[in-house]
Amino acid sequence: MHRDLERILFSESEILAGIDRLSVEVSEVYSGVEFTVVAILKGSCIFVADLVRRLPNPLEMAFVAARSYGDHTTSGELDIDLLPAESELSGRRLLLVDDILDTGRTLFHVRTALLDRGATEVRTCVFLDKPARRVIDIEADFRVFEVEDQFVVGYGLDHAGRYRNLPFVGILRPELIEGDQEAGR
Ligand code: IMP
Ligand code: MG
Repeated sequence: MHRDLERILFSESEILAGIDRLSVEVSEVYSGVEFTVVAILKGSCIFVADLVRRLPNPLEMAFVAARSYGDHTTSGELDIDLLPAESELSGRRLLLVDDILDTGRTLFHVRTALLDRGATEVRTCVFLDKPARRVIDIEADFRVFEVEDQFVVGYGLDHAGRYRNLPFVGILRPELIEGDQEAGR
């Protein structure tokens, strides 16, 4: 285990088994339907790569960047960047993928921006869901695991830009979080 972690929440094999289960659900919903997987950078990069490789459906991929400004463990203002061109979105069904659904601001605002650019449908898919922290009334159509109100890192999720490369998900030691005010997730 990494020395900055208090404990491991989901091991690599538990994560991959969870994504196996999820990919069956997703591929059934999109059976016979063309769609585009839109991954929110940076957090969902590892998850989306494992997810799409388990989907036999014909699909395209696109990316959007979202960053929330606040301290490291609470999300504040949202900055959406690198939106796909209208030609990539117009008339398409989209599956919007993020690492974690927390307050709900990111998924809500990115979904709205994609619909404004002409997408006909936006379903949402998250690796982790933290319902206790929801501020906006939004639920994911697909999710792998639910987590309690604790700050987790690994498998794409960062703290101050680090830990995304850990192949498992763990709880960061609380003393590494406190007093940390830099922006960005
Ligand atoms: P929301 O906009 O509050 O739903 O926050 C979503 C974003 O906050 C995610 O895409 C993550 O980047 C970040 N985030 C929320 N909770 C955690 C966490 O426990 N660990 C790491 N990042 C988190
Ligand atoms: Mg982040």
